[in-house]
Amino acid sequence: MLKITDFQALKKVETPFYYYDIDLFNQTADTAAAISAETGIQIHYSVKANTDRRLLEILSSKGFGADCVSGNEVEFAVACGFKPEDIMFAGVGKTDKEIFQALQMGIGSFTVESLEEIAIVGEYAGRLGRRVNISLRINPNIDPHTHQYVTTGLYEDKFGISDISFDAAMETMRRYPLIDFYGLQFHIGSQIMEVEDVFAMVCRKANQIVSLFESKGLVVNNIDLGGGLGVDYDDPDGHPIPDFDVWLRTIKKHLVHRPDQRLHVEPGRAMVAQCGSLITRVLYVKKGENRRFLMVDAGMNDLIRPALYGAYHKIENLTAYYEDENKRKGRVYDVVGPVCESADTFGTQRVLVKSYRGDLIAIRSAGAYGQVMASHYNMRPFAPAVYSDRISEGPRRKDYFAQQ
Ligand SMILES: Cc1ncc(COP(=O)(O)O)c(C=O)c1O
Repeated sequence: MLKITDFQALKKVETPFYYYDIDLFNQTADTAAAISAETGIQIHYSVKANTDRRLLEILSSKGFGADCVSGNEVEFAVACGFKPEDIMFAGVGKTDKEIFQALQMGIGSFTVESLEEIAIVGEYAGRLGRRVNISLRINPNIDPHTHQYVTTGLYEDKFGISDISFDAAMETMRRYPLIDFYGLQFHIGSQIMEVEDVFAMVCRKANQIVSLFESKGLVVNNIDLGGGLGVDYDDPDGHPIPDFDVWLRTIKKHLVHRPDQRLHVEPGRAMVAQCGSLITRVLYVKKGENRRFLMVDAGMNDLIRPALYGAYHKIENLTAYYEDENKRKGRVYDVVGPVCESADTFGTQRVLVKSYRGDLIAIRSAGAYGQVMASHYNMRPFAPAVYSDRISEGPRRKDYFAQQ
């Protein structure tokens, strides 16, 4: 069950909101940092997973770098304390404005995804008279055995440069004197659970490609294995901190590298998923013809993963646990939101305790690709962030009945 530091204070907060467990977040970041230091594999947090200012400030203060995929992410990462030289700017469709601004800011490197992009970055570097580090994102044509929407390393995917274009990519880089070839980046997908098998396979492929580039006279100073470490959505309390140890040790073991080569990873989900929950309140318990619906006040606009990917999130009744000691009987519900779409469903046929109007519900493991993917659909407001150590600072709930 989700650990709440002060349930009485939580009850007074206007729902829905994202609840971030700051202790767990710190422990996760410290665990990742310790294994990074031991293995010598540097971590650039993939900002896209969660851009909450407080979380970013904590990560920058702990010395992580940032992996960004838009100009706004680059700017915001700097505003949150990341040093420009510790920022890598990836993304398959960077605009001219984004390239220009990132060059002016002096970011660490661009991770480029096409020959066309190499040329544009090279042109702008020439016009600005600035040297630029370029990593090539490689499409290694590897299946990570994950959801098709989060697979990124197959020929069919829009990402990266495949072996067919390696010679042309090298040739294009040589045409721009201010381009410094920095290294190679491999990211094949997200929510990877078969960590050892899949990353051993990525490393074997990376070894071949690194050798190929070096045989053609390009020194690969940086090897970046991307993100992708999966988290346990079924049992967030059993596995609150993802297995950074297995991940980084697998990479260290299988990636052939020289002492002077820098190794990197870019985890997003693994850093933030388990510390975040979407907290929502039961509006109505609706008895349908053959289903019982728990209508809650959060919708797919707040957390789109179930609607977009059919993603599973554990759902818990906090009120039953914290106020009734979970003495209530079990019931089967479809947990649905108020948005005018049938896809606005957080879980179907879920066994929960008997729930009532006003109960607080937690949708767990929502810290990654949750708040950042929220929209105003149906003109609904954005759910704010509330932190475990500052619950009383959350927006106050008004009791409209009491006002009559
Ligand atoms: C290039 C790149 N790096 C890192 C990540 C972070 O992945 P994850 O959140 O699975 O760790 C992504 C996510 O899609 C990505 O595209």
